[in-house]
Amino acid sequence: MKVDGKEMRPIWFDRASKTVQVIDQRFLPHELIIESLNTVDDVIHAIKEMVVRGAPLIGATGALGVYVSLVRKNNDGADNEYFEGECNRLKDARPTAMNLFRGVNRVRDAVLKKIDYDARVKAALAEALAVVEEEVLNCQQIGRHGFSIIEDISRKKGGQSVNILTHCNAGWLACVEYGTATAPIYMAFDHDIDVHVWVDETRPLNQGARLTAWELGKHGIHHTVITDNAGGHLMQHGRVDLVIVGTDRTTRAGDVANKIGTYLKALAARDNNIPFYVALPSSTFDWGITDGIKDIPIEERDPDEIRYVQGLCHGKVQTVLVPPEMSPAANPAFDVTPARLVTGFITERGVCNATERDIMALFPEKRIG
Ligand code: MRU
Repeated sequence: MKVDGKEMRPIWFDRASKTVQVIDQRFLPHELIIESLNTVDDVIHAIKEMVVRGAPLIGATGALGVYVSLVRKNNDGADNEYFEGECNRLKDARPTAMNLFRGVNRVRDAVLKKIDYDARVKAALAEALAVVEEEVLNCQQIGRHGFSIIEDISRKKGGQSVNILTHCNAGWLACVEYGTATAPIYMAFDHDIDVHVWVDETRPLNQGARLTAWELGKHGIHHTVITDNAGGHLMQHGRVDLVIVGTDRTTRAGDVANKIGTYLKALAARDNNIPFYVALPSSTFDWGITDGIKDIPIEERDPDEIRYVQGLCHGKVQTVLVPPEMSPAANPAFDVTPARLVTGFITERGVCNATERDIMALFPEKRIG
């Protein structure tokens, strides 16, 4: 996507220096800082500390991390036990997003098919870049399928602005290109459909206020940042036509893990008869589980992310303490929205209802038995 006229991705492989480059998302929107990930520890740090974040992007980063583990080796690249250990360390960086395990495992499997070190390095890079490009294509297709939903609402409203609420950042910064939840919005805007986006600020790290607002603004899309608690009120007053969110892991039965607060938006949408869609590539489905509340691991992050807030003050990015110094805080980073609250999934293969039967109709190769 373009930033001030220049094509940018949140991650890329620089062939000249043979390094993985990323946008450091911790400093957006106020500073655009690019970092090199030169060692596995750099990659793990980037995923853990959310230099990169968002399910498809951490999948892509993990995939390239496997390549990094081979080229920055301290063995001859033939020690499978050491190599598997590095892959496990990458997968442990964050627990909820399915894409991380899938991205790392895919590249690991491609590497283990080769014996020779140079062949392993080559295979790792090729497979990691394939993971990256597949996520780009997936998001493009999600955009196409989700576009019809927005187009339909616009037609029903006689061309009046379609008000879409989104939570967290499921945009290109989270996904390499287009985004998941934002792909249909970008496509609608590019087809001259009048859209307006309500952007949940998404405490504690404000991915909505910092990242989604920045992305939409750079693309010229009309948007308004709201507090995480404002959505229900706006829905009651007819000011939201549609909710689209992303997800970090979705079960084969349609339970959705996404950024904390998503569940409350789904409840409010259901109470107000507002369609609530989840946009996701198939790489985010966990085909092995059905019960999201029981089986999806929910990341608990540092309570200081709640206690401190970062923002621009007199031209400098600063961090300030909000609650009393002594008050403890708790920071579950995701919640699970049960399938019954989801209107449908927007995937690269099309739109389906949030039931195991309809998901399996789109992905028949995942049927059990
Ligand atoms: O903690 P984050 O910022 O990695 O959480 C990201 C989200 O919750 C996104 O909504 C999700 O990854 C969807 S990605 C398109």
